[in-house]
Amino acid sequence: MTKAQFQVFPSPEAVAGAVASHIGGVVRTRPQTVLGLATGKTFVPIYEALVRLSGETGLSFAEASSFNLDEYVGLAPDHPASFRRYMEDNFFRHVDLPAERALLPEAGGDAEAACLAYEAAIAARGGIDVQLLGIGRNGHIGFNEPGSAFDGRTQVARLTPSTIAANTSDFPAGELPPPEAITMGIGTILDAREIVLVATGAAKAEALTRAFVALPDRDCPASALQQHAHVTVFCDEAAFAGMGRPA
Ligand code: GLP
Repeated sequence: MTKAQFQVFPSPEAVAGAVASHIGGVVRTRPQTVLGLATGKTFVPIYEALVRLSGETGLSFAEASSFNLDEYVGLAPDHPASFRRYMEDNFFRHVDLPAERALLPEAGGDAEAACLAYEAAIAARGGIDVQLLGIGRNGHIGFNEPGSAFDGRTQVARLTPSTIAANTSDFPAGELPPPEAITMGIGTILDAREIVLVATGAAKAEALTRAFVALPDRDCPASALQQHAHVTVFCDEAAFAGMGRPA
């Protein structure tokens, strides 16, 4: 049985406000917080709410650090669909988080070396305090696709056809997502002291049920979160709809 706490809201906007205020509270209490950040459509309104909160209340990230979950292999940082670009556009350039402490995996050169360097950089900061996570329709977290080991570290992952299809709309017309990405492993994610998973929309209902109602299973990477002692799921009613039913 999962120890995860669920917070259910009527709309994605309400979810975004609640996640922003939770993260704001964490950073206010501990300005040196090490954040684990996520990308994806789910997080666009969340960063918007966090930027608004920062502007309205003076919430500062000047002493914080961040590590993103993942980055596509082979995309230039300024490619319109790179996660670096996403983070710059949606969050980094609107807040005072120092650029040298806002890290994503370096997916442009020697990928294996970049994976080791990323793990070392996280450890050197003392580990991640709060990891934000979305969930793929197939239950992936970061780019840890079904079948990934629950103790995996930062690695090069191959995207499944369903993930490539789900993310194609983020790319310019006629361009497909790269087949590989560097992602924190599930073991890296589970090392975070707190995990905040966000799911909105009916398309995520089945993944949420498989992650938290069924027994942990490598076929659903997010089900590894059942092993973690401090997980909060922020979701809307549409994503929550299947919970309580057997997976
Ligand atoms: C992407 C990312 C994940 C994200 C997921 C869902 O592939 N690697 O970190 O959680 O897909 O994204 P979305 O929020 O767009 O549904």
